[in-house]
Amino acid sequence: MGIGSAAGWFIGRGIPDLMSLDDLLPAETTSPEATMALGEQLAGALRSGDVLALYGDLGAGKTYLVKGIARGLGGQPEDVTSPTFTLIQEYATNPPLYHIDVYRIEQLPELERIGLGEYLHGNGICVIEWPERMEPMLPAHTIRLRLTHVDENRRRVERVKGWNR
Ligand SMILES: Nc1ncnc2c1ncn2[C@@H]1O[C@H](COP(=O)(O)OP(=O)(O)OP(=O)(O)O)[C@@H](O)[C@H]1O
Ligand SMILES: [Mg+2]
Repeated sequence: MGIGSAAGWFIGRGIPDLMSLDDLLPAETTSPEATMALGEQLAGALRSGDVLALYGDLGAGKTYLVKGIARGLGGQPEDVTSPTFTLIQEYATNPPLYHIDVYRIEQLPELERIGLGEYLHGNGICVIEWPERMEPMLPAHTIRLRLTHVDENRRRVERVKGWNR
């Protein structure tokens, strides 16, 4: 069976999980709930071992997107918060979700000391807020998204294009 007929087999059964990130993005949302719904859809395009870096200002909606991703992986969105002093939160979803927020990080060695590298190269899905603060540690396969304020309730979510290491 060639690739073409294999694709036909899947399409014929309408498996929703086959949406890719580029089918879903860029996107604009007009409420926190809509950002969560987008996160839930994005979760279907993520795989074990993925690292997702979320760039964007304070209040851009990064945590709401993570709440939706948690829901998409079978978790509880209300469990996902912006931890003040915890750099990493682990959720027992399938695959496991590691929510990393390094807003308060001052030095990279701190991250190495808490074993962050193991999460970045583990079998879960790692989602990172303020990834620019740990750029040197991000694996080559990191998927980068940018969230921007369009207006008070509108946010744009897009892939960061043309990334060269
Ligand atoms: N379309 C939208 N999507 C997401 N949040 C929105 C939207 N419109 C308004 N908001 C508001 O913007 C804020 C987004 O908060 P959130 O904690 O997700 O931001 P963040 O990017 O994680 O910020 P931080 O860098 O402080 O962690 C919330 O107060 C939310 O109510
Ligand atoms: Mg946040």
